[in-house]
Amino acid sequence: MHDSRETFLMKAFVAGYPIKHSRSPLIHRYWLGQLGIAGDYEAVAVEVTDFASFIANLKSGESGYRGGNITIPHKESAFLLADRCDDLAMELGAVNTLWLEDGILCATNSDGIGFVRNLDERSPGWDQCKTAVVLGAGGASRAIIQSLRERGVANIHVVNRTAQRAIELADHFGSSIHGHALDALDEVSTGAGLFVNTTSLGMDGHPVPTLPLSKLTGDAVVTDIVYTPLVTPILEQAQRDGFRTVDGLGMLLHQAGTGFEKWFGQMPVVTEELRSLIISDLGLKA
Ligand code: ATR
Repeated sequence: MHDSRETFLMKAFVAGYPIKHSRSPLIHRYWLGQLGIAGDYEAVAVEVTDFASFIANLKSGESGYRGGNITIPHKESAFLLADRCDDLAMELGAVNTLWLEDGILCATNSDGIGFVRNLDERSPGWDQCKTAVVLGAGGASRAIIQSLRERGVANIHVVNRTAQRAIELADHFGSSIHGHALDALDEVSTGAGLFVNTTSLGMDGHPVPTLPLSKLTGDAVVTDIVYTPLVTPILEQAQRDGFRTVDGLGMLLHQAGTGFEKWFGQMPVVTEELRSLIISDLGLKA
């Protein structure tokens, strides 16, 4: 028998591989419950070899999904397979949010928006800084640099273990972004008002070298996109030196709102209750 609930249940997904550690279902189901929306959001494990057929099925409408989030390792493939990418996505060449509009598969990347909304919420006024240091030159760094430039940060220094990657990234964005090797960290941190770690340094207890944070301006903000642990070794260093710090969990929570609004029609709110829910699910110390 046809289940009429299926017809009306608005559905979205997160697709990646592996996917079982994703907290996105918890976030979106929390909002669906809070807003009383008849919808669902599920994690789907999609291997690289199956991704193109997963997207074809999504476009055909047969999957029943209104869209979804895309995570590692499919963000670049999703960019190539989408019908229409917005300007943010075009510049990044990677997307994390897909939605169907009259049968057209649209795409954007909300990582940068998540990053700045987290800073706005937890350290208002951060954007008064003129100079930022971004450690790391991978996909996350690219989205963050784009969002910092959009918010008017005049000078952005990208520092990376592999200098060439930092230089290429800086060249991609243009003259206000500068690429460096790690040995420039001391010099570029001097007088900077924002320090961002976009590398996996400090994740899950791995040791981190001492960073020259004391060179930053007195009112600088230090933030880390790693959120396991919540207070990373870099944030611990910053707190010892008396700086304002912002942990990375809020970026995960805030990037999710973009997709939710596209699929379910309402912009959800990142509440302290949601944050606590995810902290306790991850087994983190608040
Ligand atoms: P993502 O897309 O999540 O940003 P990525 O593209 O793998 O991931 O980039 C990871 C970033 O972390 C890179 O800048 C990487 O430096 P390299 O380009 O030299 O590989 C950086 N990184 C990872 N482990 C690191 C470590 N132990 N020390 C310094 N940088 C590290």
